[in-house]
This record gives sequence, C-alpha cells and structure tokens, in this order.
Amino acid sequence: MAKTYGDRHALGPVDLEIAFGEKIGVVGPSGAGKSTLLKLMSGAVKPSTGTVEIKDRLLSSIQVRERSRIVGLMPQQFDLVPQLSARKNIEAGNSGRWSLLRTLAALLFPIHDLNASEIAIDLGLEDHMNERTSRLSGGQQQRVALARLLVQNPEMMMLDEPVASLDPSLASQILESLCGESKTPDSMQKTVVASLHSPELATRYFDRVIGLSSGTIVFDKTASEVDDSDLNSLYQDSNLGIAQDYENKNSTQIWGRD
Ligand SMILES: Nc1ncnc2c1ncn2[C@@H]1O[C@H](COP(=O)(O)OP(=O)(O)OP(=O)(O)O)[C@@H](O)[C@H]1O
Ligand SMILES: [Mg+2]
Repeated sequence: MAKTYGDRHALGPVDLEIAFGEKIGVVGPSGAGKSTLLKLMSGAVKPSTGTVEIKDRLLSSIQVRERSRIVGLMPQQFDLVPQLSARKNIEAGNSGRWSLLRTLAALLFPIHDLNASEIAIDLGLEDHMNERTSRLSGGQQQRVALARLLVQNPEMMMLDEPVASLDPSLASQILESLCGESKTPDSMQKTVVASLHSPELATRYFDRVIGLSSGTIVFDKTASEVDDSDLNSLYQDSNLGIAQDYENKNSTQIWGRD
C-alpha cells in the first residue's frame, strides 16, 4: 500500500505482514511516515493505492463498530475533547461497544465505568478524573488518550508515540506492561504497533523493530538484531543533523541495550 496527501508522498509502497500478538516498534526521523503507517493500519486514513487486510478481510469493508473491537489508534495528537473531564474522555473508549443510548447517558449522567476507573488508577490518573482535560499537562493528556484506547480494548493497538510526553520512569513502566518481558496477561493477547522517537526504547521493549525513512522501510528486524549501522542508515538522511550528532557520541549511550 502507499499513501500520498495531495501531491505529497507520505508512505510506500510498503508491504507488511503482522502476526497476531506481535509487539512492533516503528522508528524513524520526523516526517518518515510513522503516523501515516499507523493511521493506514487502523483505518483512520485510506491508502491511495493498495489495501489493508486484517484476518483476510479488507479493513475498509468492516463497519466502524466492529472495527473498533478489532483495531484502535492512539493518535499522536491525542484527539481528546478538551472541555470534557478526563473520565468522560476515557469512558469514550466504550462507545464502539455501548449502544448510542448508553453512550449518551454516560456523557450526561455520572455513571462510572469500573473498568475505566481501574485503568486510570494503573496509569496514575485517579486524582485527575474529574478535571477538564484542557487543564491537564501534556503527559497527563497522553495517559488519558492511552487509557481511552485500553478501555476500547481492541485486539490490535496502534500507538502513535505513546510515551513521548512522559518522564522516563513512567514511559518504561507503561512500555513494560504493554510489551516488555513482564507484560500483563491482557497485553500478551494483543498485537501492539507503536511509533517511537527513541530507538533505545524500541529495541528494549519490542520484539520486532521497523525502521522507516522518507516513506520507505529501511529495515524490519528482530529487535535484538538491530545494530548501530541500521540506525545510522535510518537517520543519515535526516536534515536535522541528528546523524552527525549521533556519530559524535558513543553510540552505545544512545542506542545501547541491556
Ligand atoms: N494530513 C496531511 N496532509 C499533507 N501532508 C501530510 C499529512 N499528514 C502527513 N503528511 C506528510 O506525510 C509525510 C509523513 O508524515 P507522518 O506524519 O506520517 O510522519 P511521522 O514519521 O509520523 O513524523 P513525526 O515523527 O514528526 O510525527 C510528511 O512529509 C508529512 O508532511
Ligand atoms: Mg508522527
């Protein structure tokens, strides 16, 4: 599949197969096409050419409600409703499962969804549930967006930079529970594809790492096989001088794995 926006080439053509339960980190410089790839795979945008198939079905042929149980996206820009509380935004993850009436009732009346409350506690949001989302910090909003997707509970989770605004300790905790060696039993059942700006986090927590640059897959490897030359080839075309910065430092500090 491939995607262009107007006359701007964003991605592809790329040909990818993802197995059930895989945990995949997608890395690459800004503008590489990471968000575009996740949006295509979750049905948020349509490919310009080619198709996306899930379990031998065309994604575009699956109705929105059914699709929300199969695949969900945590967008890079969160897409929260700023004037609603954190709780309402998180509970909106239920809308694909609940009837329209129940969804409306949940918006109008304080009927608290226990599952949403538990997920919020896991993400350290319990003290912010009744605050207007617009008043939350970037990292808190990021966790609200993640909580909404966990409440939606799709089989495949597409996470666009899920920990970009979080402090390193919280970022590690969240990635560990979603994809790490001590992932939760729920997470084991899920397919997770996450874009990340940190190759170190990608190689540490994910099984497979895909490197994207200028809309092209530069490498697609088991995480333990990704080496510095893969990462150099990924960032060398970046016009931000990042590759030069990396070369000037000890690469193990930047991309080192445990
Ligand atoms: N809605 C859009 N309209 C026009 N061009 C777009 C749109 N979305 C993305 N693009 C272009 O597609 C290319 C890939 O963008 P994309 O957002 O997928 O990159 P990315 O790897 O996610 O970058 P970042 O790390 O900055 O989030 C870029 O050249 C971008 O300008
Ligand atoms: Mg992006």
